Amino acid sequence: METVVSGIRSTGMLHLGNYFGALRNFTKMQHDAKCFFFIADYHSLTTHPDPTILHGNVKNILSEYLAAGLDPEAATIYVQSDVPQVAELSLLLSMHAYVGELERTTSFKDKIRKQPQNVNAGLLCYPVLMAADILLHRADKVPVGKDQEQHLEMTRVFARRFNSIYGVEFFPESQPYNFGQELVKIPGLDGSGKMGKSEGNGIFLSESDASIRKKVMRAVSDSGPTEPNQPMSEPIANLFTLLKVVSSPDTVEYFTDKYNACEIRYGDLKKQLAEDIIATVAPIRERIEEIKSNDKYLHDVVMAGAERARASADETIRAVREIMGIKKF
Ligand code: TRP
Repeated sequence: METVVSGIRSTGMLHLGNYFGALRNFTKMQHDAKCFFFIADYHSLTTHPDPTILHGNVKNILSEYLAAGLDPEAATIYVQSDVPQVAELSLLLSMHAYVGELERTTSFKDKIRKQPQNVNAGLLCYPVLMAADILLHRADKVPVGKDQEQHLEMTRVFARRFNSIYGVEFFPESQPYNFGQELVKIPGLDGSGKMGKSEGNGIFLSESDASIRKKVMRAVSDSGPTEPNQPMSEPIANLFTLLKVVSSPDTVEYFTDKYNACEIRYGDLKKQLAEDIIATVAPIRERIEEIKSNDKYLHDVVMAGAERARASADETIRAVREIMGIKKF
C-alpha cells in the first residue's frame, strides 16, 4: 500500500475550493492508501506567531477536516507539534540543505516581499521542515497544489542528496499525487481566478445560510447574453462551474438552455446556486459545530493520531540517526 502525506497550515478556515479541490478526494483516498493528514502548526509560526489564536486555529481546521469526512479510523490525523520527531528530522536534513537553494525558493522570495520586517530563518527553512513532514513517513505520494510543487521538488532533492551522501537507498522520491480528472478547480465569486482564503472571494464550510445567500447574490456577473449561444464571460462561466459542482444535472441543463436562448435571469441562477451551495455546506457546518463542542472527541482523535504518527516517525528517526552515525553510549 502506498503511503500518502498531506499537511495543511493552521491559518484561516476551509472554503468550498478546499473541499471540492482536495478534501473530498482525501475522503476516498484514505481507504486506498496509508494516509497521514496533519495540521502544520509549526509552519504557521513562520507567518502568524500569535499565541492567543494558534490553538483555536488548529482546533478549527481539525474540526473542519473531520466534519468534511476525514476518518480517524482510516487515516492517521495528527497535529504536527504533537510529533516532535519532525523537528529533529528537519534539523538533520538542514545540514544538507544549502542556503543558496533555500534563498532561491519562490515562496521565500514572495515572503521577503510580503513581510520584509520578519524574514526569519523559519521562513528560509520552510522547505526543509516540509521535507521532514513528508520524509518522516517516507511518503510515496503527496497531494499538492501548484503552489507547493517546488517544495515537493526540493523534498526529492533533499532525499536524493541524503541517499547519495550516505550511500543508502533510504528515502523515497516522493511524487505529487494527481487527482487527475477528479480535480475541479473552484473559482471565486469575484469573476476571476480561483477561490482562496486570502482573496476574500470564497464561501467557507462554516458559513451561515444567510451569509452564503448574500455572497452569491453579490457575485460578479455581466450584463447578459445578447445573442443565442454566445460564449460565456469568465464570471458567468465561473457561476456555471460552481453550479455543476453543487447542483443536479437537470438544474445545470435548465440554466444552460436559458443562457443559450438569451432568456437567463442571473438573479434566478444565483438564487438556485445559493440554495444548492447551502445544501452542501449546511450539513458540514452543523457537523463542524458539533465536533468543535466535543473536546473529548477531539482530544481522543489527536492523541490516537499522534501515537500512530510518532510510531512511524520513530522508525525513521532511528534509521536516520544510525545512517548519520549518531550512536548511543
Ligand atoms: N506547505 C503546505 C501549504 O502551505 C503545507 C504543508 C506543510 C504540507 N507540510 C506539508 C503539505 C507536507 C504537504 C506535505 O499548503
